[in-house]
Amino acid sequence: APLAFVDTYGCQQNEADSERLRGYLSEMGYQFTDQEAQADLILINTCAIREHAEMRALGNVGALVHTKRAKPGQLICVCGCMAQEPHMAQKIKDSYRQVDLVFGPHALWRFPELLYRLVTRRGRIFDIADEPGSIAEGIPLVRQDGVKAWVSIMYGCNNFCSYCIVPYVRGRERSRRADDILREAEGLLQSGVKEIMLLGQNVNSYGAGTGDTFPGLLRRLDALGVERIRFMTSHPKDCTRELLDAMADCEKVAKHLHLPVQSGNDRVLKEMNRRYTREQYLELIRYARQVMPELSLTSDVIVGFPGETYEAFQDTLSLVEEVGFTSLFTFIFSPREGTPAAKMPDPVSREEKGRWFRELTDLQERVASARNQKLLGKRFRVLVEGPGKKAGLLAGRTEGNLVIEFPGGDSLIGEFVEVVVTEALAWILRGQMEI
Ligand code: SAH
Ligand code: SF4
Ligand code: F3S
Repeated sequence: APLAFVDTYGCQQNEADSERLRGYLSEMGYQFTDQEAQADLILINTCAIREHAEMRALGNVGALVHTKRAKPGQLICVCGCMAQEPHMAQKIKDSYRQVDLVFGPHALWRFPELLYRLVTRRGRIFDIADEPGSIAEGIPLVRQDGVKAWVSIMYGCNNFCSYCIVPYVRGRERSRRADDILREAEGLLQSGVKEIMLLGQNVNSYGAGTGDTFPGLLRRLDALGVERIRFMTSHPKDCTRELLDAMADCEKVAKHLHLPVQSGNDRVLKEMNRRYTREQYLELIRYARQVMPELSLTSDVIVGFPGETYEAFQDTLSLVEEVGFTSLFTFIFSPREGTPAAKMPDPVSREEKGRWFRELTDLQERVASARNQKLLGKRFRVLVEGPGKKAGLLAGRTEGNLVIEFPGGDSLIGEFVEVVVTEALAWILRGQMEI
């Protein structure tokens, strides 16, 4: 059988798309390899969220000149969010001649047709037309993991945060029907999956225009009996008390909320077009903790948004200290061509932003270590995900999404076990299993 190599950059949404692409490839008779040099077809699923992600993907695409030279006839395909950017598609057309096929997220479901055209005709194919998105149901997925599964519940984004490329490359929001999602979850349950992660850029606005709502969807999934349900991402402006109540009520829904705040300063939040204030964010957190005292909170922060001053950045530091996140994903602002923020005056140097960035990560490390110290001696229900970093260790995740390592045998992978914390670092816990 012909061999395919699939490489994925970016968020879980992209990972989920790659499962769909692998599904198509497998239907077309391909098997998979992790060696580029052996592959008859190479598919690079790219991300455009920050310059760094694009540079990494382009670097890898560039290196494929050599594999193709050694294996003439090798098909090289580039898809995903970066491919949907007109200037990037042009760049590939002009400077990456080894690439045969380029298509964006809108054309994902046309991949078999595009590939067929590629092998039956001559010439390169670029399919990056901006089109109103559609949802294709019933595509077979080839999932990477038998324990955890991603389930896309909606695509696209309508929010147009001023720094973000996603609405431009993924198009407008559209939601899958709740019945289709439930059917997929039921299948996963039957195949032994223990945890599902519901995916969307803004799951809180799931269902807009279809009559389904996200809290309603959570309640129906909870009743199904999947052991653990997670979701991401939640936008604070659409995170309602109704949703937090549903989380609190649903036994199977993990008490973990990823709620990106981006900044703790009202002026910066406004310039970002986030449409909530610091106080509204903190009020949400207070309510969430009131109904879920054990809730684990994580967030995203952008450092050095155009026009952010050191003083404004202090508001982000104080918010991070006040909330006490379990973990934080921190990014230095990266201008994205075509977004409003890319045109805003941005006087602070990259070096200065780097110093602020380290100040934030140092603070978060202190906050997380102090929080984790309090977990010593506590007992957690842990889903064993795979081997740990060292031989003889297993790695799993608590309900709050903390990684914990402990001694144990591989036969426990995919099972829930009880683990008591014996050592607490900022990023990881160590423990011992209890029977
Ligand atoms: N839909 C999600 C996040 C998607 S992108 C949400 O709205 O929260 C993941 C994170 O990348 C964002 O939360 C943001 O912190 C970061 N990000 C997005 N665009 C960025 C940019 N241009 N520069 C730096 N970080 C960015
Ligand atoms: Fe980007 Fe904002 Fe949409 Fe998230 S909500 S994907 S940050 S535009
Ligand atoms: Fe990247 Fe696209 Fe996800 S830009 S973060 S892969 S939606």
